[in-house]
Amino acid sequence: MTSGTSEISSLSAFADCPPVAEAVDTIVRELVEARSLITGVRRPAPELAASYEAHLARQTQIKGRPPVYPYVGCGLGHGPLVQLADGSVKWDMISGIGVHAFGHSDPDLVATALRAALSDTVMQGNLQFNTEAIEFAELLLAEAARTSRLEHCFVINSGALANESALKLCYQHNAPADRVLAFAHGFAGRTTTLAQITDSSAGRVGIPLTVPVDYVPFYDPEHGDDSIKETLNGLQQVIDRYPGRHACFVMELVQGEGGFNVAPREFFVPLMELCRDNGIAVWVDEIQTFGRTCEMFYFEQLGVGDYVDVVTVGKLSQACACLYTAQYNPKPGLLSATFVGSTVALHVGRRILARLREGGYYGPDGRIARLQTAFRKHMQALIEQHPDWFGPVPQADGRSTQRVYDGVGGMMRLTPFGGDRSKITKALHVMFDEGVIAFYCGHEPYHIRFLPPVGVMQPQQFDEVFEIMEAALARAAQSD
Ligand SMILES: Cc1ncc(COP(=O)(O)O)c(C=O)c1O
Repeated sequence: MTSGTSEISSLSAFADCPPVAEAVDTIVRELVEARSLITGVRRPAPELAASYEAHLARQTQIKGRPPVYPYVGCGLGHGPLVQLADGSVKWDMISGIGVHAFGHSDPDLVATALRAALSDTVMQGNLQFNTEAIEFAELLLAEAARTSRLEHCFVINSGALANESALKLCYQHNAPADRVLAFAHGFAGRTTTLAQITDSSAGRVGIPLTVPVDYVPFYDPEHGDDSIKETLNGLQQVIDRYPGRHACFVMELVQGEGGFNVAPREFFVPLMELCRDNGIAVWVDEIQTFGRTCEMFYFEQLGVGDYVDVVTVGKLSQACACLYTAQYNPKPGLLSATFVGSTVALHVGRRILARLREGGYYGPDGRIARLQTAFRKHMQALIEQHPDWFGPVPQADGRSTQRVYDGVGGMMRLTPFGGDRSKITKALHVMFDEGVIAFYCGHEPYHIRFLPPVGVMQPQQFDEVFEIMEAALARAAQSD
């Protein structure tokens, strides 16, 4: 029994009392022991094949279509290694599409989650919330405020809802402006509205088009300064065509789903200045970039924080959020919801932010920059070894590029086989079978996308990942 239970005034005081703290320590010690058996890639266990097939069949029945990969986790892993329910162990180079920054079975995060699970409620909301909801938002704001004017934060439980919140702020502040500016090939989420802003026709088949969106091209490194001029002129033209009608320009500073496309500061600054001059909100969607570039916010790395009015984050933060300046603070009634997030997500998210901030991850020589360097070194070696896999990549404008790898920080891509969809898909499936889970991004060209667990990945672990990938690409290269 705890001593002095009646005097305990907070969950952390309760979780720190000796019997509870010892119980958590015991569980985590056992976990560390269990995960220590996961040391490298492993083939599936034949005796688990039938039950694994049954899991997949059930999942297929539930969703009405098969999953992208035959992936069912067993609930255990070890850093970037994950164990599946068929007994196989694989390198997780996609981390739930950027969510599991500290990989699998991280003892500190599991301890945090165990303590959080002792809390009085599973979920927290906008009416009733606990201290960690406040602290999570404060940490985000403290980090953002160092290099921007962002002052407030609305926490919510998905990236799409953070984006919906951002859009509402922009509409309200700039009412009656009804149009949205976005980049070609951008991604914003999958609600009916965001599917219309996202530049992907497949994502809005059958959805009535109710939101007027004007697209301008993202930066094209093949055309450098001309690309900057083209986009700026394009923006000026649509502003002239619909004066006063644009509520915001939603910008991914690195395009995620669109293909890990990057752009220099010189591309964004004139666009942001033009928006500012025309009273158009600069809304930066950092849902995929947040935490995994060489600063916690990529707007900081680019040095454009002064221009941003609204910023959205999600994925590796566990709970998602919309941050905004005092000027964009909405009227009461605009933003709310039953849920802020789960108690575990808020505790773990807060812990992740603290670990990232204090763990030497950022800056030009931080852990994430070192991962980027290791990835690039491996890519250069792979290209030297297999120039035939890395020929020119055809572009939408009919020209081609030799940029066969790109990205920034922990957003890494490579483009074998000219970005051909069927060969990339084949390569990804062979990689999966051989023990590396990655995913694709872009469309015509397609790329192999890596979102490694930046919190725990060590640069030398790329050695084995690339070994497996090389063998998988060799098999894919042979297939028709
Ligand atoms: C840039 C960007 N915005 C928004 C979203 C939507 O986030 P969620 O899937 O959590 O709704 C994503 C998800 O991939 C994203 O990459």
